[in-house]
Amino acid sequence: MPVDRPGPALMELIEMTTEDKLFEAIDAERLPAHVAIIMDGNGRWAKERGLPRSAGHRQGVETLREVVRYASSLGIGVLTMFAFSTENWRRPPWEVKYLMGLPQEYLYSELPELIKNNVRVNLLGDPRRLPGPARQAVEKGIEETAHCSGMLLNFALNYGSRQEIIRAVRTIGEDLANGKLTSAIDEEVFASYLYTAGAPDPDLLIRTGGEYRLSNFLLWQIAYSELWFTKTYWPDFKCRHLLQALGDYQRRERRFGQV
Ligand code: FPP
Repeated sequence: MPVDRPGPALMELIEMTTEDKLFEAIDAERLPAHVAIIMDGNGRWAKERGLPRSAGHRQGVETLREVVRYASSLGIGVLTMFAFSTENWRRPPWEVKYLMGLPQEYLYSELPELIKNNVRVNLLGDPRRLPGPARQAVEKGIEETAHCSGMLLNFALNYGSRQEIIRAVRTIGEDLANGKLTSAIDEEVFASYLYTAGAPDPDLLIRTGGEYRLSNFLLWQIAYSELWFTKTYWPDFKCRHLLQALGDYQRRERRFGQV
């Protein structure tokens, strides 16, 4: 007898089971301390549905909400999200404006949840070029979660890794000249001048949307990160994809240059 296609309810159950299985395969003791994510594919997600690109970004915010909540519930120490690059200013003005509205849209609605989950918000990037409302939303997010001691949530906004490195070099030069820096410059000292100062380097870097590149993201910090790419567009990225990435990460052998 032919088997009927599973209906939506059954499909949901199957998905849940897959997620449960993925969850069970994760070793809670060996989670990456720092996960960094390049959220890509919003525009293509929208285009495939005949929707404006903004609809992809809007859905992307919902994915962001879910992934942040889930990562914090799993016990990830640091989550870094690439939200807007220094190169993204070259997008059409309407899109830049739209993207610059997202920090306030996300942060104002999500702050109570972030505080409840003990998540501390931080900014990687130069805040001076952000429009006032976006900057104020980020500042409010940082201030109101300053006491939180759970997951550190970094937003890379107006962020470019090369710019970050140049900024570090310049500040080191200034600090050498004014006597603030007297020790020799080694990797540790250099890293303390980056936006990510104090945080461990990412163990795992995830990129959605099917492109295999780093796009000027955390170039210094990802020297030994495990890279995980998926064709899934960011708006379609679900907790099970994160679990899949974590499982793959745990199955890899990290040698840090040793045998
Ligand atoms: C890349 O997709 C995505 C972005 C440039 C923006 C990602 C940001 C968010 C989802 C939310 C940001 C939220 C906060 C709180 C700052 P794309 O437009 O490059 O997609 P495409 O490659 O398919 O065109």
